Amino acid sequence: MTDLVEAARAVLRDNDRGGYTVPTSGLYPYQWNWDAAFCALGWITFDEPRAWRELTRLMEGQWADGMVPHIVFHVASDTYFPGPDVWRTPHVPATSGITQPAVLASAARLCLERARNKGLAEDSLATLYPRMLAWHRWWVSARDPERSGLVGMLHPWESGMDNSPAWDEPLARVSPTPTSAIRRRDLGHVDAAMRPSEDFYKRVIALVDLYASLDWQPSRMWAQTPFRVADIGLNAILHRANRDLLALARRFGTPAEQAEIAARLDFTAAAIDRLWNAGAGIYQSRDLIAGTLIDARTSAGLLPLWAGIANDRLAALGATLRRWSERARFLVPSTAPDDTRFEPRRYWRGPIWGMMNMMIGEGLAEAGEHALARRIKRDTAAMVSQGFREYFDPLTGEGLGGGHFSWTAAIALYWNLPDEARVDAD
Ligand code: GLC
Repeated sequence: MTDLVEAARAVLRDNDRGGYTVPTSGLYPYQWNWDAAFCALGWITFDEPRAWRELTRLMEGQWADGMVPHIVFHVASDTYFPGPDVWRTPHVPATSGITQPAVLASAARLCLERARNKGLAEDSLATLYPRMLAWHRWWVSARDPERSGLVGMLHPWESGMDNSPAWDEPLARVSPTPTSAIRRRDLGHVDAAMRPSEDFYKRVIALVDLYASLDWQPSRMWAQTPFRVADIGLNAILHRANRDLLALARRFGTPAEQAEIAARLDFTAAAIDRLWNAGAGIYQSRDLIAGTLIDARTSAGLLPLWAGIANDRLAALGATLRRWSERARFLVPSTAPDDTRFEPRRYWRGPIWGMMNMMIGEGLAEAGEHALARRIKRDTAAMVSQGFREYFDPLTGEGLGGGHFSWTAAIALYWNLPDEARVDAD
């Protein structure tokens, strides 16, 4: 075992709070939805029961209508804002009232493939499968009520890419809440220059207040929100998750469920294709209130590769990435480096995330773009081998944000980055 493997395992063990993994202690003291999915991919490489436990603990937060919240507040903590008192949701254990990208079913399927103890994997999946199906059905009923084939997010945090420049315009429609309501804790952990602005917080908390006043009822939220966006990242990840859920349905579900998922897949592939912007050389999100594509080029627009539906666009997406690499030493920046809003060190406005690189890199490899896939994997290995930071500066490779970060360590294990870093050093 290499030192890096040992160090990555230690991060997950240190961040284990009894069956769930906090992203990092202090800054993020609870269980996050898509973080849990990536953490499971790390755990499955050395502690299989713990990987399955991560996913079942996340499902303790699932709501009766199928929604899986973006945070499960298993145990109280005063190091994070906004906590349960701000969300005011009816669920026990306490949870937030919004969701996050649906990586879960993909992680579950990949864990099954990796697992040596197939009996344990199958037992775990027999319980998880119906719950994942319920979540995917919730996406359709709550977030695509008009059956457009695209799901909408009602809060920037649902994208997981909280502070992306793609949300600037739709968020401008949300009136900021008065300052007194904001009690930020993040600035006690991380430099303000790497975090979202005060104005951003005032607007995102205003949305939380609005939804709490609507008792978190999906149809009222959908109808009354000033912020409704078909995020390309969310839709691509959900498409991929439905492919993985379909594979699981063949083993754990009924023929009717298989047909239901397959039909949705055909529908969503066509809808996502309409988010392609040939001029920009990338997929983009749609503002569902303004009815226009959002003029921002972000790494989310590469995720149809992960979904397996970008083969016709492969050459153009490859050209986009090569263009980005002329300005950024490391791939894949979260915002195009030639965008005026590019900031290499600020949250989702430029920095690189390890798990984004894994999804984009695997998608490229599956599509046959091996040279770029390899480049992205080696870049990730070079950055991560300097430390398991939350994210990285694409111009210098420097680690930023929180340290001792779970999904960065998990991806290093799952994606065999220590081996990659060693080859690089040789
Ligand atoms: C930040 C990220 C989000 C992540 C969370 C915990 O809010 O933007 O994607 O899930 O931190 O790591």
